Amino acid sequence: MNQEQMKQTAAEKAVEHIQNNTIIGLGTGSTIQYALEKISERIQKENLSIQGIPTSNTTKKTAQHLNIPLTTLEEHPTIDLTIDGADEVDSNLNLIKGAGGALTREKIIAYHSKTLIIIVDDSKVVKSLGMNNPIPVEILQFSYTATQHCLEELGCTTTLRTIVNEPYITDNGNYIIDCEFPRIPEPEALEMQINMIPGVVENGLFINMADMVIIGGKQGIHTLEKAIVQ
Ligand code: 5RP
Repeated sequence: MNQEQMKQTAAEKAVEHIQNNTIIGLGTGSTIQYALEKISERIQKENLSIQGIPTSNTTKKTAQHLNIPLTTLEEHPTIDLTIDGADEVDSNLNLIKGAGGALTREKIIAYHSKTLIIIVDDSKVVKSLGMNNPIPVEILQFSYTATQHCLEELGCTTTLRTIVNEPYITDNGNYIIDCEFPRIPEPEALEMQINMIPGVVENGLFINMADMVIIGGKQGIHTLEKAIVQ
């Protein structure tokens, strides 16, 4: 299996978890594209009745194109199941997300979901978070230099995300600072420290949020599930 096939296999497995008459959070990214296609197929073939809540304008457009019925968090504040991708996954099911720039809406949707399933190919699995990716931090444009300095004081090197030499603007009208940490020994504490800085909207550490990670590998699918603490 090549990388695209691994993504597709993981995505299709996740879509099997969708039940009739449910509200589904729709993540963002290239892996989610495969899930959207499969959801659309199940709607047509099985008459599956679901409503999706997209995590980005891009996903919203794709879902509309694929005739997936959509709703909003205002109408449905509790989501049954969200399927989303990730940039890094560790063995505790903690994640780095946001390479696609949708981290804030993704985290809001994840927070309001009864179940969060993450789909990745095996290149996303890491021993410790931050090994291959910076932590994206969405910040207000107002005061962005001051906010960037505060982030650097946490021990990272920062880069303002750009696109065609202009600052990248999120769906919420904000900037993203990518923060590269030499190591992240305590991701849970760091997630909170980052969000304490005024001007920070949200960061891409998703700690204790995922219930299941479906990993597509060369040999097939491997699933990590959250341990249930009694
Ligand atoms: C977007 C995200 C994506 O889910 C993440 O970047 C993974 O994307 P892909 O499936 O294209 O690798 O967090 O903000």
